[in-house]
Amino acid sequence: MTMHTRSQTRAPAGRIAYVDGRYVPHGGATVHVEDRGLQFADSVYEVLPVRDGMPLDEEWHFERLERSLREIAMPMPMGRGALSQVMRETVRRNRVKLGIVYLQVTRGAHRRDHPIPDRQVPTLIVTARGMDANALAKRETNGVGVITMPDIRWGRCDIKSTGLLPAVLAKTEARKAGCYEAWLIDEEGLVTEGASTNTWIVTQDDVVVTRQLGNNLLPGVTRKGCLAALAGAGINAIEERPFTLKEAQQAREAFVTSSGGGVVPVVKIDERTIGDGRPGPTTRKVQSLYRELEGRVANP
Ligand code: PDD
Repeated sequence: MTMHTRSQTRAPAGRIAYVDGRYVPHGGATVHVEDRGLQFADSVYEVLPVRDGMPLDEEWHFERLERSLREIAMPMPMGRGALSQVMRETVRRNRVKLGIVYLQVTRGAHRRDHPIPDRQVPTLIVTARGMDANALAKRETNGVGVITMPDIRWGRCDIKSTGLLPAVLAKTEARKAGCYEAWLIDEEGLVTEGASTNTWIVTQDDVVVTRQLGNNLLPGVTRKGCLAALAGAGINAIEERPFTLKEAQQAREAFVTSSGGGVVPVVKIDERTIGDGRPGPTTRKVQSLYRELEGRVANP
């Protein structure tokens, strides 16, 4: 039997990661065993879409990153300009045209002790990877099914923390059910968001509804982009308010948004078909508005 090390079996050939000042092959890209990101999920992250080889909406992602860091009293590992350069260089070295760039800042390595240490030296990790254009297009065209799960997460889901176990468990259940996403339902029966997406419905009166921001959900950059695009197109029938699972299941249309997937129509929630089971006109409109926005950023 051949013995493989973990890096040999798991490292995708040719991929390059940025870790603490160096660009290294994935197989050799490591953090300290006592990194607080590893031990306490004392760390935050961002995922940016890459289109035509360019990270999108950088400023909005930096704003959110700085906010996440501020909320947990962690310093920025470097300024926005330098961070942007590292992301672009990581994208370039991995030859990503369509995909994502992932950025994680941890509170660094320290002897294991819960309180925030006096001296913080953050760890910065950046990776990039391509996406399957066909899978993306298929989801955008046909829509997806979602399951629902109780929202068992903590009280600060507005911080983009890597403490993602609830999302890991929810997404696993979704995949087992052949679904793309799990919608998380709070104790009052209201939809908070998806495990890794923001959630939207279009009511029978053609009002676009998405939950208002608060401590219970992530302020999605794609959500923000879609709201801006809708307003820019003069579509004012938008409500930022909570909606129940029942309202969602009776909606005319539904969709989810995220940096990884863009605008994805939802055609089934649990066993209930939404509308006629095909992506509706408003979702199509949001998709095309968002694509225009993407195109403008990627090709200014
Ligand atoms: N997820 N809600 C949650 C809980 C998320 O994790 C995400 C993003 C979103 C959408 O945010 P944005 O539009 O900024 O991507 C909403 C990323 C993509 C992830 O964890 O992979």
